[in-house]
Amino acid sequence: MEKEKVERVNSGIPGLDELIEGGFVKNSVNLIAGASGTCKTMFGCQFLWNGLQKGEKGVYVTLEQSAEDIMKDMLTFGWDFSSYIKKGRCKICEVTPGDVDELKTFIFSEVKRLDAELVIHRFVLDSLSLAAMGWKEKPEEIFKLRTKVFGLLKSLKTLNLTSLVIAEIPSGEQSLGRLGFEEFIVDSVILLKVLPVDIPMRTLQIVKMRRTKHNMQVHPFEVTSKGIFITKMKKKEYL
Ligand SMILES: Nc1ncnc2c1ncn2[C@@H]1O[C@H](COP(=O)(O)OP(=O)(O)O)[C@@H](O)[C@H]1O
Ligand SMILES: [Mg+2]
Repeated sequence: MEKEKVERVNSGIPGLDELIEGGFVKNSVNLIAGASGTCKTMFGCQFLWNGLQKGEKGVYVTLEQSAEDIMKDMLTFGWDFSSYIKKGRCKICEVTPGDVDELKTFIFSEVKRLDAELVIHRFVLDSLSLAAMGWKEKPEEIFKLRTKVFGLLKSLKTLNLTSLVIAEIPSGEQSLGRLGFEEFIVDSVILLKVLPVDIPMRTLQIVKMRRTKHNMQVHPFEVTSKGIFITKMKKKEYL
């Protein structure tokens, strides 16, 4: 049987695509996990910005920082999202949902308002962990919550989105996301860290990625004037 060609969506992170056979699997849900300050928000914005440069549309839903703060922060890299927002190609919206269903309804309406035809586009949720944290699920209701979160992530695929879902790992905790099960229900997991060596080093590791040949190495990265950059690549090829 002929091998099926997997369609890919570029990550926008120089050096990352060649580690994952060209990019994220189209229509997949990808978890970007890390402690606070490990560049998760930057990763999400760089992915979105890359899509906008290619003429794709994108939606960023934030439950953490305000949309205004994110846009101001990203201007330091020259990523002016406001011009794309004005053109109706992009949305950065903040929401404080009461539960998973409310969040799902919000995402659906924002995505469809931006793009009723649902052509290929990118979506970032920042973050899933904080959302779940405020919902005070009792331990006996964790199964119900898991089913709901699974439903939410699955529905992103029906919207024809390639999604990044950000998860905050509290320091000292073993599981990836705060719920402890996000990693099982997504198509890929990328782990961001700051290693506490003499000169602290930022690293990225592809922990899992379905339908993709990848290694398990820890890849150092830097934050340059143009965002995240996997250090292994020669800098002049990019700058
Ligand atoms: N313009 C910039 N230049 C260099 N480093 C930056 C810049 N903006 C943010 N950073 C670094 O990135 C870190 C935060 O990135 P962020 O994506 O907000 O992390 P997270 O979402 O994981 O908490 C900051 O603490 C800082 O070290
Ligand atoms: Mg963040």
